[in-house]
Amino acid sequence: MVKGVGASHAKTILLGEHSVVYGRPAIAFPIRSLSLRATATFTDDENYLATPFHSGSVADQPRGNDPLEKKLAETAFRNATQQLQLTARKMNVSVDGYIPPARGLGSSAAVAGAIIKAIADLHKKKLSPAEQFELIQSVERVAHGTPSGLDVYATSTEVPIWFQNGSAKPLQVLRDPPLLIADTGLSGHTAEAVAIVRSKLEKKPGQVQKLFDDIASLTEEAGSALTRAEFETLGELMNKNHEILQYLGVSDHRLETLITAARNAGAAGAKLTGGGLGGCIVVLARHEGDLKNLSEQLVLAGAKNVWLANGADAEAA
Ligand code: MEV
Repeated sequence: MVKGVGASHAKTILLGEHSVVYGRPAIAFPIRSLSLRATATFTDDENYLATPFHSGSVADQPRGNDPLEKKLAETAFRNATQQLQLTARKMNVSVDGYIPPARGLGSSAAVAGAIIKAIADLHKKKLSPAEQFELIQSVERVAHGTPSGLDVYATSTEVPIWFQNGSAKPLQVLRDPPLLIADTGLSGHTAEAVAIVRSKLEKKPGQVQKLFDDIASLTEEAGSALTRAEFETLGELMNKNHEILQYLGVSDHRLETLITAARNAGAAGAKLTGGGLGGCIVVLARHEGDLKNLSEQLVLAGAKNVWLANGADAEAA
C-alpha cells in the first residue's frame, strides 16, 4: 500500500523562553524519548484522523466547541491539503506515540508537524524548509496567538538548536548534557503566560526589555558553556534564567516545589521549561550517574512523570 510518513518529537527549552518572543535567542534540545510518527494512506471513504487525543472524520470547518487538541490536528490536516492543493483524494492519517499536551514540551507543533509531513510524503511533495515551517506555524498560531516559531523547529530537528528571530541553526555541543524533564501533571497555560509577560512589558517597558537582555546574555553564555561541556556553569545560568522567569510571573508553586527538590537532590540547575504556569521543569544533573536518584527524588516530590531528554528509555521513573 502507498503510504507517507512523518516524524517529530518533544522539545525542551534550556534557556530563553518568553524573551524569544521578543527577538532574543533561545536554546532548545530534542527530547528523543518522546516521539511521534504519523502514517498517511489514501482511502475511498471520508478524510479520517486518529491521534493520541481523538479519532474521527475530519470536519470541513473548525467547530467552536471541539477540544483544542482535535481542533489543532484537524487544522494541520486541512491546511496541508488546502495549501498544497491535495484535495483530490481522501486520506486516512494516524499518529502513533504520545507527547503530553499543554506541558511546554511542544506537543501541538509535534502533532501538526508529523501530520503535515506524512500528508506531503504520501503525495511525494518535497516541502521546502520555509513551506514546512509556515504550515506548522499556521497551526501554532491557532494554539497560542503569537508563537515565536521555536517549537516548530525544535520538534522537527534532531539536534540541539539556537533559535532567534524566526530562524534556527544547529548548536555545537561537546557532549549531550545529562538532562531530565519532570512533569507537574498540570496543564501549562502558554497563551496566558505569554499574555502576562506582554502586560508586564507594556507596564514597565524599560525594566522588562532589560530583563529580556539579561536572559539573552545568560543564553549566550550557556551556548559557550555547551561547546565546552561546562555543566556546572550551565546549571548556574539555568537557575538565573529561572529567577527572571519567576519575576516575570510565569512560575507557580508546583513548579517551584519540583525545582527546589531537584536542587536539594544535587542538580546543577533546574528551571521551568516552555510557557510555565503549570507544565514541566528541566533539570541538569552534575553527572549522568545522578539522573536515577534525581528522578526518584522528583517523583517523591510529586512529579507525575520524569523523562530523560537524551535517553532511549521512555521514562526514567
Ligand atoms: C513556548 O514553548 C515558548 C514560549 O517562549 C512561547 C513561544 O516561543 O512562542 C513561551
